[in-house]
Amino acid sequence: MIDANKIKEEVLSEIKNVTNAKILYDIRVKYLGKKGIISELLASLGKLSIEEKKLQGPIINTLKQEVTKLFDEKNKEIELNILNEKLKNEKIDISLPSTKIPLGSPNILEKLIEEVEELLMTLGYDVVDGPEIEEDKYNFEMLNIPKGHPARDAQDTFYIKDEEILLRSQTSPVQVRTMLENKGENPIRMICPGKTYRRDDDDATHSHQFMQIEGLLVDKDISLSDLKGTIDVIVKKLFGEDIITRFRPSYYQFTEPSVEVDISCFNCKGNGCHICKHTGWITVAGAGVVHPNVLRMGGYDPKIWSGFAFGFGAERLAMLKYGIDDLRVFYNTDLRELKTFDRKESD
Ligand code: DAH
Repeated sequence: MIDANKIKEEVLSEIKNVTNAKILYDIRVKYLGKKGIISELLASLGKLSIEEKKLQGPIINTLKQEVTKLFDEKNKEIELNILNEKLKNEKIDISLPSTKIPLGSPNILEKLIEEVEELLMTLGYDVVDGPEIEEDKYNFEMLNIPKGHPARDAQDTFYIKDEEILLRSQTSPVQVRTMLENKGENPIRMICPGKTYRRDDDDATHSHQFMQIEGLLVDKDISLSDLKGTIDVIVKKLFGEDIITRFRPSYYQFTEPSVEVDISCFNCKGNGCHICKHTGWITVAGAGVVHPNVLRMGGYDPKIWSGFAFGFGAERLAMLKYGIDDLRVFYNTDLRELKTFDRKESD
């Protein structure tokens, strides 16, 4: 006759002080494994007579269940102890300084463009986009600059395929695209900030890739004074309320009359300094009243419609606003340098 209680007690005393899951597992195998004590007992039943089987069978089975339960409970106890120990040791010390996660921020050029966009959106302008790989007809021809016109030379264009496909040398082709999209029917108020390309050697004030902010308004009875009012709002927002706008006569093929936009120097208030090269004025944009030919080619009848257009150099605006003297830093990836922009902005 087997003594189930004795075996149970043996198990209990063996596992009582165990604190390690691996050791517990080894003891479990000793009793319940394939060749374990209890498994052997079960196997030995086969050799017994039917009467004895009936007697011993239930005792061994119950023993197996009870011992299994003992191991399971002990296992739980060990796991719980390990967890409690871990929680005790990993207590959070809230007085420790936190890890600083460096935050990214938009490029300063992007911020300036957004500032202009937000302002003009409040005046009812849409912000539109156009392709950087452009057709000659939009970049030049429909802006009143036919093939062979000397004005093309000034724009050292990157041609991609024959004389037809190019990297846009200005954002002005978006004027044409917007007019065509509106089919000569709707008034237009749009700005298009975007990249432009010219064959230029890179230095502090020139880059083969730079950004312009193009603007176009087409409506009825639009004159140069509307342009002046709009430009005035933009430069005052960017450089301060006391800034004065001045128009100088200029020449662009797509505007007539054409002007160069100067602002009074925000640094010396017009007295003369190194920023305005001692003239008291700083040129910030080209602009003008949309040429009737351009309106016509864009599908707008110049007898009914009129408009104005302007083009700012985005890097130039940002350089002036943030006191940067080399435009290459906008395209720099050196974080130390870019971080100084954040500081400049919060100054
Ligand atoms: N597209 C001209 C340039 O790149 C700038 C410009 C001048 C744009 C006059 C205009 C404008 O829209 O009316 O030099």
